[in-house]
Amino acid sequence: MGQYPEHPTMETNSPSGDKVSPPRLPHGNGKRGIEDFPVAPEEPYLQARGITKRFGRSNALRDVSFQADKGEFLCVLGPSGCGKTTLLRIIAGLEKQDAGSVHLRGEDFSNVPVSKRNVGIVFQSYALFPNLTAAQNIAYGLRIRSRRRASIQDRVESLLRLMGLSGFGSKFPAQLSGGQQQRVALARAMALSPHLLLLDEPLSALDAQVRLMLRGEVKQLQRRLNITTLMVTHDQEEALTMADRILVMEGGEVVQIGTPMEIYEKPATPFVASFVGSMNFMGRALKETHRVYRLGEIRLHVSRGDHVTQGSHATIAIRPEDIVVNRISHSQNSLSTKVVSLEFRGPLYRATLSLPLGAAEQCLLQADIPTEKIRRFGISENGQLDVELPSDRIHVYAA
Ligand SMILES: Nc1ncnc2c1ncn2[C@@H]1O[C@H](COP(=O)(O)OP(=O)(O)OP(=O)(O)O)[C@@H](O)[C@H]1O
Ligand SMILES: [Mg+2]
Repeated sequence: MGQYPEHPTMETNSPSGDKVSPPRLPHGNGKRGIEDFPVAPEEPYLQARGITKRFGRSNALRDVSFQADKGEFLCVLGPSGCGKTTLLRIIAGLEKQDAGSVHLRGEDFSNVPVSKRNVGIVFQSYALFPNLTAAQNIAYGLRIRSRRRASIQDRVESLLRLMGLSGFGSKFPAQLSGGQQQRVALARAMALSPHLLLLDEPLSALDAQVRLMLRGEVKQLQRRLNITTLMVTHDQEEALTMADRILVMEGGEVVQIGTPMEIYEKPATPFVASFVGSMNFMGRALKETHRVYRLGEIRLHVSRGDHVTQGSHATIAIRPEDIVVNRISHSQNSLSTKVVSLEFRGPLYRATLSLPLGAAEQCLLQADIPTEKIRRFGISENGQLDVELPSDRIHVYAA
């Protein structure tokens, strides 16, 4: 088979546009590799400690720390430019941090060369060898490691099957769809059973339907192979559906780490609250008593907010789907609003409601109301609507 490239340059484009070279495969240069480190079971599997990175005078990463268990699927979520790719590149060894360290099974591997880290990387662009078939692309790393021919074939066959590519092994990248190419890239990254799988927006170049399908498949495969995975995305739905835990970043810093449910239910800051899901910020309210806040002329009972001292101000917020529509309501936090507009979204309507806070003051609230309720209650634009803001669904952020 003479078509293997003599000097592999697996160059890919990172989503931020800069050229990156995925790790070269080990070729015995005498340096200690990660697999040589002893296993210390009490240590976290992967640990980043205080990683800081500057580009010129701007801070791309500031004191980033987190850890991951063996087999855990971590999503790094955040807006463009917040440092996601930089963090991944530092963990891969493609970039050097200015401060901090990366540990695998308790051992500092900050100075281990890329080629010895045994990480599988997949970027947004497919970056397959165009002159190799799907099977040869997947086998590439295994051949470099001079595995037995029969065992390589078995491994490639099983990966093709796992990725739903049986029968496509002999196709060249140009003969495959985007989704199929990215499956090959994922299979190639997993072929060497890497210690870490690093994925930088691997699904974002695909169309919506393929993306949805691959989401489930990647997650299943990752589970099955029990590979510790760090996936960068700026798609909150992707993070919520795929991650065991999400690491939310803002401006080079980690602002919250938690399960998808924790991040969604208890967003630590207003930024997390508005970046993951939608949130109505109702304004600055005065904490009157232990559980009561005054916003303009209305009083709201709130079951959270112990961190705010009485007599001081806090921002009150609620998610659109937590606003309850009641025809006749005498419950706590029952408020009379006016329907400003209704936007049909299929199973629900996104309603904009105007809530009077005083003589001249009002606050606009977005509420998600099931379509069935809109019909049953005859809710229409410009009509009055009584809603309830359940006290346990109100978020409080110290001002
Ligand atoms: N090689 C570089 N030289 C100079 N600045 C860089 C370099 N790489 C990244 N940066 C800057 O560091 C910051 C973080 O970039 P990074 O690529 O990590 O962001 P990101 O979160 O991956 O964004 P996106 O979602 O757009 O991919 C940005 O301000 C970026 O301009
Ligand atoms: Mg990026």
